[in-house]
Amino acid sequence: MVKILASQESSLNEAASVLAGGGLVAMPTETVYGLAADARNGVAVAKVFAAKGRPSFNPLIVHVYDLAQAQELAEFSARDLALAQSFWPGALTLILKRKGNCGLSDLVTAGLDTVAMRVPAHKAARALLKKCGFPIAAPSANASGEISPTTPAHVVQSLGRKVDLILADGACAVGLESTVIDCSGEKCLILRPGVITAEDIAQVLGESVAYDLGNRDSGDLPKSPGQLLKHYAPSISVRLNAVDVVQGEALLAFGSIKFMGVRGIGAAADLPSDSLRNLSEEGDLYEAAANLFAMMRALDNPVHTGIAVMNVPNSGIGIAINDRLKRAAAG
Ligand code: TXA
Ligand code: MG
Repeated sequence: MVKILASQESSLNEAASVLAGGGLVAMPTETVYGLAADARNGVAVAKVFAAKGRPSFNPLIVHVYDLAQAQELAEFSARDLALAQSFWPGALTLILKRKGNCGLSDLVTAGLDTVAMRVPAHKAARALLKKCGFPIAAPSANASGEISPTTPAHVVQSLGRKVDLILADGACAVGLESTVIDCSGEKCLILRPGVITAEDIAQVLGESVAYDLGNRDSGDLPKSPGQLLKHYAPSISVRLNAVDVVQGEALLAFGSIKFMGVRGIGAAADLPSDSLRNLSEEGDLYEAAANLFAMMRALDNPVHTGIAVMNVPNSGIGIAINDRLKRAAAG
């Protein structure tokens, strides 16, 4: 059995010593659970790649306690400082030029001259970063290609004994991975949408910001190595923008299902409870984001022929939700 401890002073101390000793800790963050390792320790970071089955060309996010620690690792322009000051601690990952002698393992950044960094807002993550004093590399704590974990149980399902310790702190409040923005060039580009939206960022920058979500149909190399991979994929098929349910399918609803039917059978509302989840009956996108991964996992059961997903409006954080849904459907 993998060791699971509720996050509190004593378990945080234990987690810090596991990390300092080169071990792996699953740590809660406000977005999703991360698989943490000492970002300076190449052997520890290699264990992260091995545990996830992650290709070594796909770099990890480095978590730091505050902006001052981030500035030891990367170059910040005035623009980058404004973003950090506006959104940290929080669900924004900045990609910046890495400093030459910053001490990070080259494996963390997959040999790139840039580094992805984030100051998480979660209390336990912050306490752990403070106790450690060193930067923590942490991708989402799931096997590569699977849905990110938003509860300790998801981490156990996905990684089990490959983790030395799971710090448990309930369900993640945000539920979607951080917004990733590449600020290593002249113009910032959003590589992964999240709950911090393009509009939020544009307000700080004083100009609009474009997306580069990796056009997999063209031969272009994606900006973010993670975009190459099949991501967020359940094991059964996912059908988007469903207006009804086919017999055998599960339904992932958004909003009212009063007028939704199961083809040739009856009302979707009468589906067995194991085959029906509603991201948000009220149509609240924040609630939907927080529920998305846990509900996809709950419906990802071979008793279903697939998951029918109702339309989610594509504005605000709906863009991030639809990004994950599209990847799930492509997998
Ligand atoms: O919310 C989150 O960001 C969570 C929590 C644990 O902080 N972490 C997370 O990490 O989602 P991960 O490794 O699953 O996703 C990081 C993404 C990957 O798509 C990776 O390719 C990209 O960020 N990335 C990391 N470093 C990069 C770099 N230097 N240049 C471009 N993309 C980078
Ligand atoms: Mg991930």
